[in-house]
Amino acid sequence: MTRVALVSGGTRGIGAAIAVALKAAGYAVAANYAGNDERAKAFEAETGIPVFKWDVSSYEACVAGIAAVEAALGPIDVLVNNAGITRDAMFHKMTPGQWNEVISTNLTGLFNMTHPVWSGMRDRGFGRVINISSINGQKGQMGQANYSAAKAGDIGFTRALAQEGAAKNVTVNAICPGYIGTEMVRAVPERVMNERILPQIPVGRLGEPEEVARCVVFLASDDAGFITGSTISANGGQYFS
Ligand SMILES: NC(=O)c1ccc[n+]([C@@H]2O[C@H](COP(=O)([O-])OP(=O)(O)OC[C@H]3O[C@@H](n4cnc5c(N)ncnc54)[C@H](OP(=O)(O)O)[C@@H]3O)[C@@H](O)[C@H]2O)c1
Repeated sequence: MTRVALVSGGTRGIGAAIAVALKAAGYAVAANYAGNDERAKAFEAETGIPVFKWDVSSYEACVAGIAAVEAALGPIDVLVNNAGITRDAMFHKMTPGQWNEVISTNLTGLFNMTHPVWSGMRDRGFGRVINISSINGQKGQMGQANYSAAKAGDIGFTRALAQEGAAKNVTVNAICPGYIGTEMVRAVPERVMNERILPQIPVGRLGEPEEVARCVVFLASDDAGFITGSTISANGGQYFS
């Protein structure tokens, strides 16, 4: 039977690559997004993957959005918590708004998205929850106290929930990408990229969204059934944790 996968923030960047790779692997895929209708519609037209708009920082919106996805495709077997934002500032200049927005989306969003699908996964005796954290949640990054805190929290969430899901064949894992060549990272000035970022990456290049997507496809598969509570680092050797 075709398994159903939902990718939050699945219409652009890493999430889009994940959605496309899961579809190619035979899943029925839905992609969520927040507000960029133009990009979402273009992605849907190009890939045939249906898109659903809601804000992962709202629990009520997640409950309603997930109900709409399940009505269209069936119960969700694989949830990829990928939606994320940055609101960078040095801590002495960081506003409560910048802190709260990032925590609400990047950390509370995982509760909001996972809670509505969790009981169903347990009842059916199968589930995969894959959380896209970050290298900066592992090592910390100046200018990103909010983002690093949220992404480190994603790892703690992963490890706690893995213990709860294990007996029900529901695995929960995290992936920590390093610098991946999405729009966000490609917007960095060339000089900064060449002089400051690339020298930190032993493989000497940015990662590709598809390289993260392949980790997701593996963790979603039956072959990965003994892997839970783990963190896969995909960072070109930049940081070992
Ligand atoms: N790029 C990197 O180098 C890198 C490295 C480590 C970790 N990550 C993590 O990987 C994930 C994807 O990053 P990316 O670079 O691919 O991001 P991106 O290109 O900026 O795409 C973000 C996606 O998330 C959606 N989104 C943002 N806020 C949302 C919300 N509140 N509710 C629902 N959807 C929301 C966006 O929707 P709209 O299009 O509607 O805005 C978009 O589809 C993030 O969690 C990020 O922290 C990225």
